Amino acid sequence: MLIDKYGRPVKSIRISLTSRCNLHCFYCHNEGQMATKHEMTADEIEILLKVASKLDIKSVKFTGGEPLLRNDIVDIVARANKYMEDVSITTNGTLLAPIAKKLKAAGLNRINISLDTVDRKKYEEITGEDMLDEVLNGIKEASAAGLNPVKVNIVAILPIEKIMETVKTVWKLGAMPQIIEMVNIENGDGDDISHIEAYIASRAIKVRHRHMHRRRIYTLLDDEENEREIEVVRPIHNSAFCAACTRLRVTSDGKLKPCLMHNNGLVDVITPIRKGVAMEEIMKLFERAVENRYPYWR
Ligand code: 5AD
Repeated sequence: MLIDKYGRPVKSIRISLTSRCNLHCFYCHNEGQMATKHEMTADEIEILLKVASKLDIKSVKFTGGEPLLRNDIVDIVARANKYMEDVSITTNGTLLAPIAKKLKAAGLNRINISLDTVDRKKYEEITGEDMLDEVLNGIKEASAAGLNPVKVNIVAILPIEKIMETVKTVWKLGAMPQIIEMVNIENGDGDDISHIEAYIASRAIKVRHRHMHRRRIYTLLDDEENEREIEVVRPIHNSAFCAACTRLRVTSDGKLKPCLMHNNGLVDVITPIRKGVAMEEIMKLFERAVENRYPYWR
């Protein structure tokens, strides 16, 4: 098992499949990476996952850009399923509805869908595209396909009334809303959403803490008095969040990346893979990247 200098085990890998996206959200951190010309092939991704599994990494999340822009996404999920116990995707949901069932059949376990508002005009202002219906359909189809959980990432950029409008719609679609603090990748700072969390907390009938992280799950009652959950994710200025980080990243141009928030300690893994080096060599590159890990917030 890979453990970094701060005693944090690495248990999951987050692979960016492309830097391309069909939306243009004004706040997007693009997973902390630059635009990529030469994306990794499915074969190359499979090699990465095989090595990761030998190092006791059991969980993969595919991101982008928008990962569903890859025509081979179903194949990539199927290959990942051979090596990982948990396979998930973070997507903007616009291209999801037609392939949700295929992804499930290929071994996708769960999914995160980005949706900051259910207000059509605001959605277009935020993303630059009029694609709200496609996303809502994507959420419906993902739930119907049996992906579990379907989480909806709501970056907290709108006032609390608008956020709660989105939360209620997400509940109705059978998904779990997750409210995320907006981070500024340039300076690491961001919006303080204490007032939003306080509002939710004041209406909650139960609270659960997800170990270590400053991640809380609140149970509220919806308009029909059903119990429903909201998760609140606040990484900014949160040393507990970084202390609990067990994740290694891979950029879409094939570099192991120790942290979302900076580009220190990147390790090029794709060039050696393309040269056909032995598994052991690739394992050493993983070890080097893990040595480069340090908590951004301490
Ligand atoms: N701050 C917080 N979350 C962000 N995301 C993208 N950019 C930011 C940002 N600046 C979220 C999106 C998506 C996930 C990959 O990251 O909502 O769901």
